[in-house]
Amino acid sequence: MTDKSSNAMWGGRFAAGPDAIMEAINASIGFDKRLAAQDIAGSRAHAAMLAAQGIITDSDAEAIREGLLTVLSEIETGAFPFSTALEDIHMNVESRLKEVIGEPAGRLHTGRSRNDQVATDFKLWVRDQLDAAEGALVALIRALLAQADSGAEWVMPGFTHLQTAQPVTWGHHMMAYVEMFGRDLSRVRDARARMNESPLGAAALAGTSFPIDRHMTAQALGFDRPAANSLDAVSDRDFALEFLSVASICAMHLSRMAEELVIWSSAQFRFVTLSDRFSTGSSIMPQKKNPDAAELIRAKIGRIFGANVALMTVMKGLPLAYSKDMQEDKEQVFDAADNLMLALAAMEGMVKDMSANADSLEAAAGAGFSTATDLADWLVRALNMPFRDAHHVTGALVAMAESRGCDLPDLSLDDMRSVHTSITQDVFGVLGVHNSVASRTSYGGTAPSEVRKQIARWKDLLG
Ligand code: ARG
Repeated sequence: MTDKSSNAMWGGRFAAGPDAIMEAINASIGFDKRLAAQDIAGSRAHAAMLAAQGIITDSDAEAIREGLLTVLSEIETGAFPFSTALEDIHMNVESRLKEVIGEPAGRLHTGRSRNDQVATDFKLWVRDQLDAAEGALVALIRALLAQADSGAEWVMPGFTHLQTAQPVTWGHHMMAYVEMFGRDLSRVRDARARMNESPLGAAALAGTSFPIDRHMTAQALGFDRPAANSLDAVSDRDFALEFLSVASICAMHLSRMAEELVIWSSAQFRFVTLSDRFSTGSSIMPQKKNPDAAELIRAKIGRIFGANVALMTVMKGLPLAYSKDMQEDKEQVFDAADNLMLALAAMEGMVKDMSANADSLEAAAGAGFSTATDLADWLVRALNMPFRDAHHVTGALVAMAESRGCDLPDLSLDDMRSVHTSITQDVFGVLGVHNSVASRTSYGGTAPSEVRKQIARWKDLLG
């Protein structure tokens, strides 16, 4: 006989219930209630399989199926009585099922364990997040493509070291992010394909002596196949770690873009105007319009990196198979997923709404001797000068312009000839920023003609 206060699900060998502190450190229901829908889907698949294999009767399976639907609707409507004493979502659902349908509920746990159950539930949840991330990334890429399309020809400064380097096009800069988020998209798809094996039926760690059909439950839950090793199936959290790794790289891209939007929307740059919908004001400075969404994306990314490190640390010392440490996987992943989705949606909204200021971009594009490389390249092409010498001559011309406080195109032909006598009037043709970008037609280069090809390729890819 068990003490009344010991756990109804596993209290057989216990004479007394847990200390309040034990219950507090042990319970996961406060957060794993988010796995309710996945838990019930897993149980439905398991019960149907048990009946198909003759392990439980059809009428018990039917009672379980109906009962689980009732429990699910109680959870969805908020009527479900979650209990900390019942530890986690698995035992909360099973215990409530018993209240709803009685004796057949006790047969549901045949040939499975909470270890394969939680691995299955969590995998299904992470898989949903990968699907959601895929959709959000496609939406963001489309928003970037629209920006690239409308400003494929606009010139702007390209930077290295955040110093003006060479003129580039707005479309080219937008398409750089399309490439980054495009790789994130392919990582999301890869991760989904790799994780899609079912842990269900691995039982506690060793498999089971019941004649279960793991292929059937795998198929019912949309997995490609059952995981091939029961020890691995219950102790693998690679899928969560891979989600966090993919999320971290994507988050890093989001943060870089957020940083650019913060810089670009400043009064000093004025490259873009963010919409009112994605900006906030200051309570004291009436003129302010702040890029808070971009700043918060930049900041929230830290939580995603943190989750990745935290779960790696949880997992790194665990012997096979399951250890309770693994319960710490969920909160990290939940928080990272929530913030990734929020950051992706906020970035999509900002990109959709923002307007690039073509005039400011163009004015900045010509500053800082940005066509100096074009001048050097002209010396190579027109005068057959070795590039190193051309670099030197151009450097002297830049120094001259700098000392006069003017730009390269403002120097006269005589000025140019005072540095190198063979320079001709033709040189002025390459010093304009539009000519500069138009000339960079190498594959993947900044010329509008090349950028348009990449936009078309991506539109095609996304369909
Ligand atoms: N709440 C647990 C978790 O999240 C479920 C698995 C418990 N298994 C066990 N053998 N105690 O990991």
